[in-house]
Amino acid sequence: MTPWDPSAEAGPPGQSVPGRVRIQTEPVTPIQPLPARNGNATKFARESVFEIRDMAVYYGDSQALGWTSLDVYEHLVTAVIGPSGCGKSTFIRSLNRMNDSISGFRIDGQVLYHGHDVYGAGVNRVEVRRRIGMVFQKPNPFPKSIYDNVAWAPRNLGMRDELDERVERALTQAALWDEVKDRLRDSALGLSGGQQQRLCIARAIAVEPDVLLLDEPASALDPIATASIEELMHTLKHRYTIVIVTHNMQQAARVADEVAFFSLDGTSRVGTLIEYADTQTIFRSPRDTRTRDYVTGQFG
Ligand SMILES: Nc1ncnc2c1ncn2[C@@H]1O[C@H](COP(=O)(O)OP(=O)(O)OP(=O)(O)O)[C@@H](O)[C@H]1O
Ligand SMILES: [Mg+2]
Repeated sequence: MTPWDPSAEAGPPGQSVPGRVRIQTEPVTPIQPLPARNGNATKFARESVFEIRDMAVYYGDSQALGWTSLDVYEHLVTAVIGPSGCGKSTFIRSLNRMNDSISGFRIDGQVLYHGHDVYGAGVNRVEVRRRIGMVFQKPNPFPKSIYDNVAWAPRNLGMRDELDERVERALTQAALWDEVKDRLRDSALGLSGGQQQRLCIARAIAVEPDVLLLDEPASALDPIATASIEELMHTLKHRYTIVIVTHNMQQAARVADEVAFFSLDGTSRVGTLIEYADTQTIFRSPRDTRTRDYVTGQFG
């Protein structure tokens, strides 16, 4: 794994920092078979990509997320589930500092990424977002060509060598290449919703991130496009670590290896991590009755 480089000079998001960004060129870490772990994360042999320790998030005076501690493991799909307003988006957006620009946002505790504090002094936010990419609920392609959408971030980050190959690779990984290779110069806005979302995934992976954060990436899509995004998760996790927010229990059960269930604490109404375990445990034998009620649809 390329070492984190907090000493890289900070610059505003989206601004070009040529020469300061190193492209990860190492071969992908081979997938190890999943060891049995009896629901105990400490027995897990995989490397932790994130170690989240006592993270609490506030917007102004209001606390959105309670003290949350969990590890996110490499090359797994970790699903974040829970009722509306329980802090799922707040949680994943805190992993790549996407909340920084929200006025009143404050975070306590630590978010360690490969052992380095994402919120540490001198950490370059551009570099954080290059390594930890994000895709949102609603496909949001730029009003540019398909090619320029995918080439946008590499160009901004000074990754101009072999750009055509980079664009093709990202579109291939996002399972979109065959559908668009003959119309790369056409507007991205002419693609279907499902194609637009795969384009946004291609745009995120064009800079070769380490982690993909997906906030309800299929909720605006029809069942066929949803199925193609889910299939994509299975392929992409061999290369990336994926954290996905979803409201869809079947989807979580189909795509996730690990599931974190958040809910609103009864009295304080603060988003709280209730249970975090492998998918089978969460859906078949959850330890907490609140998890069971939620996954069986008896919530509320
Ligand atoms: N920009 C913001 N400013 C102030 N409060 C916010 C902001 N974004 C979210 N919140 C508050 O933080 C809490 C958690 O919101 P968040 O969007 O993280 O929930 P969520 O679980 O993603 O919900 P949903 O399932 O509806 O997307 C809510 O009480 C919400 O009102
Ligand atoms: Mg949300």
